[in-house]
Amino acid sequence: EKGKYKYFMLKEVYEQSKTISDTLRGRLLIPEKIICIDGIESHKEIFVNAESITIVACGTSWHASLIGEYLLEELTRIRVEVEYASEFRYRNPVIGKKNIIIVISQSGETADTLAALKLAKKKGAFVFGICNVVGSTIARSVDAGAYTHAGPEISVASTKAFTAQITVLVLLALIIGKYRYAIDDNRYKFLCEELGAIPEKVNYVLKMNDTIKKISQLYHNVNNFIYLGRGINFPVALEGALKLKEISYIHAEGYPAAEMKHGPIALIDENMPVVIIATKKGCYDKIIGNIQEIKARKGKVIAIVNKGDIQVNLLADHVIEIPNTDEILSPLITVIPLQLFAYQIAFSRGKNVDQPRNLAKSVTVE
Ligand code: F6R
Repeated sequence: EKGKYKYFMLKEVYEQSKTISDTLRGRLLIPEKIICIDGIESHKEIFVNAESITIVACGTSWHASLIGEYLLEELTRIRVEVEYASEFRYRNPVIGKKNIIIVISQSGETADTLAALKLAKKKGAFVFGICNVVGSTIARSVDAGAYTHAGPEISVASTKAFTAQITVLVLLALIIGKYRYAIDDNRYKFLCEELGAIPEKVNYVLKMNDTIKKISQLYHNVNNFIYLGRGINFPVALEGALKLKEISYIHAEGYPAAEMKHGPIALIDENMPVVIIATKKGCYDKIIGNIQEIKARKGKVIAIVNKGDIQVNLLADHVIEIPNTDEILSPLITVIPLQLFAYQIAFSRGKNVDQPRNLAKSVTVE
């Protein structure tokens, strides 16, 4: 039931503190700094000896996969690539025995992801699944896996499943990194602590909803949006743009901030708002440069910044302040204002947020 919420999407966005906790429960023991995932533990050798990992998914789950690429490469030093399931399945991919395939799917029923899984298995690869729906076809077809415990996601636009997928990917990266002695012990412990603190920080971000609503009311009539982020927040920019497209029908594109000058900057004028993830660390100075470039062309800037930020505050038209965390955990926090922003824009435009036109919750046909 939707309870006090007008739409399931908003309810699900608000559930994320709890769903991230649920996904961590029994897997991350904070005082002891122990991470335990059965599907990894029982196949430890395969992960220790892996030469590469290919993550295959569609849509929002594909964006989580891109975040997984940053996480896994950083913490495990295994080479990772990410593919759209629809492309992977038709291009005779090179897969060897030491190549692990990870498939990510909220519904566990996506036709292209299932076909990719079957192809990978046929070629002899070990396939690990990250699904939300328990007992779904993909969950039943993989060699091993870990469920996201986000609970039923009713809204067509995926939100809490996305943060739960990232949570599982963080756990995976930490545990495999530890097995392979790829992470420094102090960093491992620090990240375990920081991960445990994420649910509380998510609650803090949710309190920004009123600010976000006010900003959205100034922009719900525009025709286009650009979303920018760098590093591990580049896929978050893609996800923010997808959320807006799906439910508000406003055209939006996500880019790595540095790609601006290779084309999209030509679009910038006073009618082109830019949402930019400008949290500290992740190339902060370069992000400031990007914002200056946009302002010089009269673009409007809505920036996601850390609490206490000064520099971006001076440049941007609007800022949304969020708590600080380690850069590689930041997508769990930075995506929340983008979900709320998409919701508020769609809502002000009077759209049916939970049932966007032309979209189905699970895409069981090609
Ligand atoms: C976005 C969205 C879709 C799905 C995609 C994959 O909000 O809902 O892009 O993410 O269809 O679905 P799953 O994860 O069920 O395989």
